[in-house]
Amino acid sequence: MKKILVTGAVGQIGSELTEKLRKKYGNENVVAAGHRTQPTEEMRQAGPFEFASVTDKEALEKLVVKYNIDTIYNMSSILSATGEKNPQLAFQVNILGLYNLLEIGREHKLKRIMIPSSIAAFGPDAPIDNTPNETILRPTTMYGVTKVTGELMGNYYFQRFGLDVRGLRYPGIISYKTLPGGGTTDYAVAIYYEAIKNKKYTCFVRKDTVLPMMYMPDCINAIIQLAEAPISQLKHHSDFNVTAMSFSVGELAKSIKEVIPEFTCEYEPDFRQDIADSWPNSLDDSAARNEWGWQPEYDLKAMTRDMIEKLSEKLKPKL
Ligand code: SER
Repeated sequence: MKKILVTGAVGQIGSELTEKLRKKYGNENVVAAGHRTQPTEEMRQAGPFEFASVTDKEALEKLVVKYNIDTIYNMSSILSATGEKNPQLAFQVNILGLYNLLEIGREHKLKRIMIPSSIAAFGPDAPIDNTPNETILRPTTMYGVTKVTGELMGNYYFQRFGLDVRGLRYPGIISYKTLPGGGTTDYAVAIYYEAIKNKKYTCFVRKDTVLPMMYMPDCINAIIQLAEAPISQLKHHSDFNVTAMSFSVGELAKSIKEVIPEFTCEYEPDFRQDIADSWPNSLDDSAARNEWGWQPEYDLKAMTRDMIEKLSEKLKPKL
């Protein structure tokens, strides 16, 4: 069997994706690659781990040859808030890094490359509610610009070179194992940590801010399900809307209060408010549902219950 390479494997999604892929395809068949952050002992013990940045084509190519890789999941990305602080870095990692992977895919005739996009591909000109899969893509963040570029590049490499590139537009992803970093939707994770640790949270976007969201188990299922869909069923390739739920921060705080009644939330919007305001409130993901059977499992209530249970266990003082 050929092998899978996960880039950005130490990140929020990459770490849980690597674990799931290893369970599914065997530990030795999934190579985890990180850039700077040390992997957990668990990740290192479970299977191969290598340091490599997506901006270093030679290093990536060496990994592809060394491990006989035929599928890449590109989970490395500079997210929206960091991208606004350092647009040049976002360009390098998200566009040049992706280009390196696509070229490696073409040159080494890889079987498949998975490239997540984001709700950030949309901008203020797109319809804000139930945003369609096909609509105007004019993002106002550097992150969004890099994500639209990635989608177009993925579709181009499929049409022009027959490289099987697939991607989905993730909403905000909520999880308890690895923290997100540098995103606008990070508040939806931080709120749970603070609710458990301090019973209060100060949110950096307004109470009425609504964004599409998804719990990590659905996020992982979505990308693996898309990767495994028969290509004959796909009309889209690198640009599927996917969503699980939409809620305002006020509704999120209320769902936490139902489990932790003392919890209170305050609001001090910063520059991330503008980013959030430029993104959709909700997505129409019928293309993903029709073409590869997308179906999320978690809604806000089920997610909050699970997050609080798992995080309370994780944050419990060790004896
Ligand atoms: N979670 C991402 C961000 O907030 C959106 O894709 O930047």
